[in-house]
Amino acid sequence: MLRPWKVSLGERIDASRDTPIYLQITQALIRDIESGRLPPGSFLPSSRELATALSVNRKTVVLAYEDLISQGWLSSESTRGTMVSSLLPGSQRRDNPVAEAEASPCADYRFEAGPTRPLAIPDGKGLKIDEGTPDGRLLPPDLLNRAYRAAILLTSRENRLQYRDPRGSERLREAVAAMLRSERGLRVTARNICITRGSQNGIFLASQILLRPGNAVAVEELTYEPAVAAFRACAAEVVSVRLDREGIDVEHLERACRRHPVRAVFLTPHHQFPTTVSLRPERRLRVLDLARQFGFAVIEDDYDHEFHFDSQPLLPMAAYAPAQVIYVGSLSKLLLPALRIGYLAAPEEVIDAIAHRVSLTDGMGNGLTEEAAAELIENGELRRHARKVRQIYASRRETFADALASELGPIVDYAIPDGGLAFWLRFHRPADLARIEATAPAMGLRFASSRSFATHDKAASGLRFGFASLTPHEARAALRCIRQAAG
Ligand SMILES: Cc1ncc(COP(=O)(O)O)c(C=O)c1O
Repeated sequence: MLRPWKVSLGERIDASRDTPIYLQITQALIRDIESGRLPPGSFLPSSRELATALSVNRKTVVLAYEDLISQGWLSSESTRGTMVSSLLPGSQRRDNPVAEAEASPCADYRFEAGPTRPLAIPDGKGLKIDEGTPDGRLLPPDLLNRAYRAAILLTSRENRLQYRDPRGSERLREAVAAMLRSERGLRVTARNICITRGSQNGIFLASQILLRPGNAVAVEELTYEPAVAAFRACAAEVVSVRLDREGIDVEHLERACRRHPVRAVFLTPHHQFPTTVSLRPERRLRVLDLARQFGFAVIEDDYDHEFHFDSQPLLPMAAYAPAQVIYVGSLSKLLLPALRIGYLAAPEEVIDAIAHRVSLTDGMGNGLTEEAAAELIENGELRRHARKVRQIYASRRETFADALASELGPIVDYAIPDGGLAFWLRFHRPADLARIEATAPAMGLRFASSRSFATHDKAASGLRFGFASLTPHEARAALRCIRQAAG
């Protein structure tokens, strides 16, 4: 008979935790069995002894023992007591939590292609300057409420809340395809659409099917860092291409293609992220020529297509080069980022390959939210909401430009953007920017680091200032805070 096990559970049982005490005893015993401290065949103290040692009610220990017996961890040996089941294999592991953490295979992956900037601008007091997100306060909760209610009623009646097509809700794909045909000139049907969890998910899925380790992806020297992180996660080489005031430098892109195996080029041609300029038609055509010549795909991230204030927006590149472009869109800027509704438009076989990836990761997306989004498109509410917020944002852009000129005019260089929800601010003196970044957070201002857009050390730095999510009053307060921080 094995020696009785020395009770050492005391320090692991804590009545103030949310976990019931009987469950804490159960967990601690399993952990000791798993670590080898309690080998198969060893006897446990009687329930009375353990209850006294732990200062708990005996019934609590009895409950823990009974649970463990019914699960097969312990066995009851009638008169001899309760022991660790002799059917369990002996443990190979030393009871050393530090060694255990080091040996864990998770340790190898923990920081793989790790985050190069904080996962999010932290929530908290004070004002947050985002990179161009909508003002969630402008979306009446009742609008969403009604859309979800209608979606629940319809899908329940038709028994459609089941496992289904990884490309997403048929109804939403039809609605998105119709919208892309009528408003953006894309020649697509539902078969060319895959619904995604926001455009970030779309970018990730596109990179998964395009990029293999060692392939290169070209990005502008200032760009959307989470996209770069997605490319790096595919072990692709990220090649930085020069950017000027009119967008990507196409001559430099061509030289990059001659030197690297470029399989994809990531662009935000509608409003370059972060600098906000629209890519001019001649450069778009040149990029497409290069795509045909070097055999790369363009990942066209059209994250804020709905917001263009001074003129009609240029049609997406996907409208005239559907075979070369994987088009990425989203409802995050028009409705809310938290809905996580985005979409990809691409040739059918590309969409099928992407849908296969979806089936490997989350299986099928969020059917209920997709149906609610389809409801909003079909009943015209999305279009009405777009009209309303476009007017509000256009006016916020004007008042922001005035406030910017009066608060920061002498120290920043900027252009009023034709569209989108953000300004790009470049500081005449880098020292001003450094002072702002060092002192503004203590004054209650939260924003992304100016380095988070740069793909190399020498790239210009600046602040991307989302104006749409702030009321004019809040925006002026944020600008004043920046001015004070600049000293
Ligand atoms: C350029 C760009 N691409 C993609 C995204 C991701 O948006 P979402 O995944 O919410 O559609 C954002 C969000 O701000 C963005 O600015």
